[in-house]
Amino acid sequence: MTNAMIATLLGGITPAQFLAEYWQKKPLLVRQALPGFTGLATREEIFDLACDPDVESRYVRYLPEAPSESHVEHGPQKRSRLRGKREPWTVLVQGLNLWVPAADALLHRFDFIPQARLDDLMVSYAVDGGGVGPHFDNYDVFLLQGIGKRRWQIADQKDHSLVEGAPLRLLRDFRPVHDWVLEPGDLLYLPPHWAHNGIAIGECTTYSVGFKSPTAQELAYGFLDWLGEHLCLQGMYADPNLTLQDNSAEISPAMIEQVAGMLNGIRWSRADVAAFLGSYLTEPKPSVFFEPPGEPLDRAAFAQAVQAHGCALDPRTLLLWSSEAGFHINGEPFASNPDDRDLLAILAHRRRIEGGQPLPASLLSLLHAWYEDGFLQLAEKPAQ
Ligand code: SIN
Ligand code: CO
Repeated sequence: MTNAMIATLLGGITPAQFLAEYWQKKPLLVRQALPGFTGLATREEIFDLACDPDVESRYVRYLPEAPSESHVEHGPQKRSRLRGKREPWTVLVQGLNLWVPAADALLHRFDFIPQARLDDLMVSYAVDGGGVGPHFDNYDVFLLQGIGKRRWQIADQKDHSLVEGAPLRLLRDFRPVHDWVLEPGDLLYLPPHWAHNGIAIGECTTYSVGFKSPTAQELAYGFLDWLGEHLCLQGMYADPNLTLQDNSAEISPAMIEQVAGMLNGIRWSRADVAAFLGSYLTEPKPSVFFEPPGEPLDRAAFAQAVQAHGCALDPRTLLLWSSEAGFHINGEPFASNPDDRDLLAILAHRRRIEGGQPLPASLLSLLHAWYEDGFLQLAEKPAQ
């Protein structure tokens, strides 16, 4: 994306200014952040995704008069439910970027925030009056208006008490301090914990760029899981000096002492943390499956096609790197030739390699293996 496009997206400020003044600090409303934007998927395409068992979706009927009686239905949705006209409703589809290449491209317009923090692009479709009610999220979000209009009310309130017994996390006492109507292409950035309520004015779609904000507890679970697979402790339990116990059911202090000593041998280093993060942050969501090409090109034909026209990571592929743990793709580390690392870092950042350049044989082998796994696709040949 060009600097001018980023400046438009952020309302005339640079990404560095955005990070210093707004990111995780205060909201930013940008009118016409994406001029001409009217969404990435039609109503029917959104409904098809919502009805697909592999796609995460929610149908929400929020009742402002009786919030605790609001209704939530997790996907796959029934098509008939998506026709209701009597009561306002909305359907939300998570991970649009996994299914629609243009949604992956939109998500990556926001990669002035590290990809390690980027989660997914959600789309919501609502009929007039539809929304999910006043709530707060624990993560940052960019809300981009697709078709139609949506009224956003927001608040920086400390009172986060929730409506009891509701199927949604709804604020009991929402006191908005700003009230804006967003039109197609308008963008609203909200830091974590800002209360917000979006109400559709007529039929509308909203695209939300969400971020990963794992809790310490989630990271600990993930790390202990990773450590369990990578740990290699020596020795085994032994008790050559065992003495007769009065009660055979007792777990003796001596046994506890010996096991405590063994477990005290569990150690990890910063390098382990870096390797864990590489795997954890590139692990595909459980619903993700890659589709290898039907009739894959052999290595020579593939090399010729990539060097001529380029290639792009599949929208579902996650490729990240750190100076301490190297590259990880879709949950796994891989060895790379030191000479290929600059090109790999560019591929990870831009998610594509342009055609019209010779590429090293070692890199072509790696790319070919990923192509065969469905992690990467050849760029389309430009029309003659
Ligand atoms: C929506 O698109 O209706 C909900 C988005 C949000 O509040 O985070
Ligand atoms: Co929200």
